[in-house]
Amino acid sequence: MSIKVFHVVGARPNFMKLAPLYRDIALKENILQKTIHTGQHYDPLMSDIFFQQLEIPTPEYNLGIGSGTHTQQTAKTMLALEELLLKDKPDWVLVYGDVNSTLAATLVCVKMGIKVAHVEAGLRSYDRQMPEEINRVLTDSVADILLTPSEDANQNLMKEGVSKDKIFLVGNIMIDSLCFALQLIEQESKYIAKAKKILQKNDYQNFILSTVHRPSNVDSPNALKRLIEVFKEIAQEYYFVLPLHPRTHKHLQELNILNEIPEKMLIVEPLSYFDFVYLQKNAFCILTDSGGIQEESTFLQVPCLTLRKNTERPITIEKGSNTLIGDDYDLLFSKIKEIEQGKYKKASQIPLWDGKTAQRISSLILNLPKLGTF
Ligand code: UD1
Repeated sequence: MSIKVFHVVGARPNFMKLAPLYRDIALKENILQKTIHTGQHYDPLMSDIFFQQLEIPTPEYNLGIGSGTHTQQTAKTMLALEELLLKDKPDWVLVYGDVNSTLAATLVCVKMGIKVAHVEAGLRSYDRQMPEEINRVLTDSVADILLTPSEDANQNLMKEGVSKDKIFLVGNIMIDSLCFALQLIEQESKYIAKAKKILQKNDYQNFILSTVHRPSNVDSPNALKRLIEVFKEIAQEYYFVLPLHPRTHKHLQELNILNEIPEKMLIVEPLSYFDFVYLQKNAFCILTDSGGIQEESTFLQVPCLTLRKNTERPITIEKGSNTLIGDDYDLLFSKIKEIEQGKYKKASQIPLWDGKTAQRISSLILNLPKLGTF
């Protein structure tokens, strides 16, 4: 008997979670799979390039949702997805991470009686101001099975009263993609031409790599202006590479503060996955408000200073190379000095962040018919 699964993805951080699993399932004879892209992210640099580099085919369906308020994105996805699933119905739907597309797809499926598996379940920042936290809590509360990246996620779910039989500790699928990328960029320098150009052209050594896009950092003009001032100050001393997320780019343009950039600061468009991994691997340290980068830098053992007051990935602080900075910029400068002086903590490897999570998930999928009675 074969099992039919659909993957629903929508935004950049979903694509590297989908890819390893898609490729692994493609090797299995008795699983049929299709991908639905909601279209939440639509720029080629935010979407298409990830499908090409991670060797997964163009999705069978694209709902073309695009940008909008959270309600618009969620509601549009729900309406379009329901229509599609009425015509082409899978046994299971896999949803990824914590973006609006994740929650929208979960709600549609559970209401239509289609089973849902949530990849990267159980993460909690305990900050309900974050749209992603709402998406995580709601998705986990109704999904049929919860595939977690680390033991702390299991604990979070159990605290919420989730039955143990729904929770499967499978490991961190982002690390599968990271291992895939590291291997390819090692073999083929053509994949990282842009990153190498960025570094060579500017004769960068010991550069700092940064990404910021969270509403808490970039939607308030005052917060964003202050952050850019801090970055400029850092760039007086260190080379500073800042690939710009479209949300951040838009706000910087509105504030008209993209000029008067110090010589050592390089602002670039969103980078491909391979270019970005190469820069991460070679950075002296990373400043970010991303979730995934906190994990990738831990695996790469590169110091990560997180420009947020909390994290849904505390394991990257306890065992990894991550430190929460919030908006304490004195702490930021002192941590950069610590790193420079070689006094910063060293990361250890985290169990099941081993590049084999996709295999564990696809084996589980093959057993899903037996688990179908939740
Ligand atoms: C979304 C996710 C966030 C994730 C991030 C990664 C939610 C609630 N948030 O945030 O968890 O970390 O993706 O990038 O789902 N835009 C473009 N081109 C695109 C996509 C977006 O120009 O391809 C612009 C639009 O102006 C849009 C803005 O970026 O309004 C924000 O995009 P959106 O998908 O709403 O949220 P993100 O900030 O990307």
